[in-house]
Amino acid sequence: MDTEWSENPERIKDPILIDADMKINFTINGNLETVETDGNTPLLWVVRDILDLKGTKYGCGKAACGACTLHIDGEAVRSCSYPIEFVEGKEVTTIEGLSDSEENLHPVQQAWIEEIVPQCGYCQPGFMMATAALLNKVPSPTDEDIDNNIINVCRCATYYRMRKAIHRAAEIQNNETLKK
Ligand code: FES
Ligand code: FES
Repeated sequence: MDTEWSENPERIKDPILIDADMKINFTINGNLETVETDGNTPLLWVVRDILDLKGTKYGCGKAACGACTLHIDGEAVRSCSYPIEFVEGKEVTTIEGLSDSEENLHPVQQAWIEEIVPQCGYCQPGFMMATAALLNKVPSPTDEDIDNNIINVCRCATYYRMRKAIHRAAEIQNNETLKK
């Protein structure tokens, strides 16, 4: 992957339409979408600039910070470094699609509210998507699981509250599973 994509001056001038030579079909937050663009365009640009879903954030553009994390087929992916051509036929979920309504928030969203996690908030969608993906695989993560898997960057250093919220989200999710 060309991690310098975001720094190419030609692309900055016209970030979407350069070499718009591919049609890519995929599902995003339950809706079928077809976009026409350069196959090398990172998914993050498609999500934010073409589909206008601004919840997924741009941080480093080099797969280092995790601000752009979303799910592809349930896996946490750093979308700034994931070419759209590889999204063909896949299912993408962004923070906007994590829950179906405000009345039915995802356990991660509930826990984040309870623990009042965000400070500036910029990094938080990425952390929440990374956490939701972790809990799908590891329903009751230990501190070590969290350290090994949630490796995003928060400039406001909300790590302590996030750790508490991740444990709380696991508890909420496990309780919801028991009720089913
Ligand atoms: S913007 Fe994608 S990892 Fe930083
Ligand atoms: S809450 Fe500000 S960067 Fe994380």
